[in-house]
This record gives sequence, C-alpha cells and structure tokens, in this order.
Amino acid sequence: MARVRTGVLISGRGSNLQALLDAAANPDFPAEIVCVISNRPGAGGLARAEAAGIAALTVDHKAFGTREAFENALHAELQNQGVELVCLAGFMRLLTPGFVNRWTGRMLNIHPSLLPSFKGVDTHQRALDAGVKLTGASVHFVSAEMDAGPIIGQAAIPVLPGDDADALAARVLGAEHQLYPECLRQVASGEARLEGGHVILAHAAAPQALLVNPPPRS
Ligand code: GRF
Repeated sequence: MARVRTGVLISGRGSNLQALLDAAANPDFPAEIVCVISNRPGAGGLARAEAAGIAALTVDHKAFGTREAFENALHAELQNQGVELVCLAGFMRLLTPGFVNRWTGRMLNIHPSLLPSFKGVDTHQRALDAGVKLTGASVHFVSAEMDAGPIIGQAAIPVLPGDDADALAARVLGAEHQLYPECLRQVASGEARLEGGHVILAHAAAPQALLVNPPPRS
C-alpha cells in the first residue's frame, strides 16, 4: 500500500517531529515523512530531519510582507514535495482560514492540554492555576479556530504535588511522543475519519488502565 506523503511544520526543537520520524522509519507505518519545513531559520528540528535524510526546508515568515504571502510560499513548498497530509509539530504561527481550508481534514496539530481546556499559550501554568488533577495532550484536525478542530486522540497524565510548569510540560511531552505517532497512524491508514465534525475511529480499543488522581488506596 502506498504510504501517505506527509509534511511536518515546525518552529523549534522538534521532539514531536522526532517521534513521528521514528515511527515512520518503519516501512509498515502508513505515513512517510517527505519533508520538514520550519518558519524559523536554524530551528533544532531541521537537524533532526537532515539526520533522517529528509528534506529540511525553511520558509522564513519574516521574509514575507503579509501572512498570506508567507502561507502561499508554504503551500507551494508543500505542493512541490507532493505532500498529502500535514502535521503541525510545535509550529508557532497562526494560520489564516484561507490556508487552513486548503488542508481541511488533511492537517493535524498537537496541543499540550486536554482540549477543549487550556487552548493557546501558557497551557501548563494555566492548568496549574486551575488546580486540575489530570492534564495531557490532544491531537486534532486543524480548523480555522485555534486549537478547536475535531479531536483525533488524547493522552492524560496526572498533575503531581510540587509540579511547576516546566515539570508538567516535560511529563506531558513524554505523552505527546506516544500520542502523535498513533494519531498519525490512525489518520494515514484511514482508521480515523471525519464525520459530521467528529472523528470516528474504526478500531477504537479501550485503554488498559483507568487513571485516577489521587489514586485510591487499597
Ligand atoms: C509541544 O509541547 C507541542 O504540543 C506544542 O509545542 C511543543 C513543541 O515541542 N505545540 P517540540 O518542538 O515538538 O519538541
């Protein structure tokens, strides 16, 4: 079966990109990462792409007069590379509805919270301020409204006594690295599909464990 040609957009260190590259290194994985594009020159993730032998490109948003001009260049590059599916992985530019609509149902994002809670930036500090006892990460299809598109999958982790935003971010990041490749697998294989604004999973299996925080004492 042909693998789905996937482009990853990044702005920074690219640890989620790495998780996707590692998963896609298996020839049985239904998505192939064909290019990585950063809007920031020198982003750490570009070196990860190069190390994996994958096209590492920069489309510097600062080189364009308008958001639309930047996005047109991005779109042209994705088309040059024959990209069918886009994964945003720590891509820190807001995308206009014009761009998002060109990729409806074909663009994924990962956000470090259990959406719809804590959309936007400073998620971990806001989770701490709210006093939630579980938080996590969500992978969703991108819609015009930020962090609001149909959810494909989520991973939950406990908030522990003494956590600060950095400690929480690190624990959530570990969950992200497990979640994102699985969600990409689901979408690329066609097991996850959009129906009526929700994502339907063809083979949804119940997770092994119930996460209760604080854990009940036996
Ligand atoms: C991740 O926490 C991701 O959820 C958020 O930005 C961070 C990117 O980290 N959107 P990395 O570049 O993948 O290491």
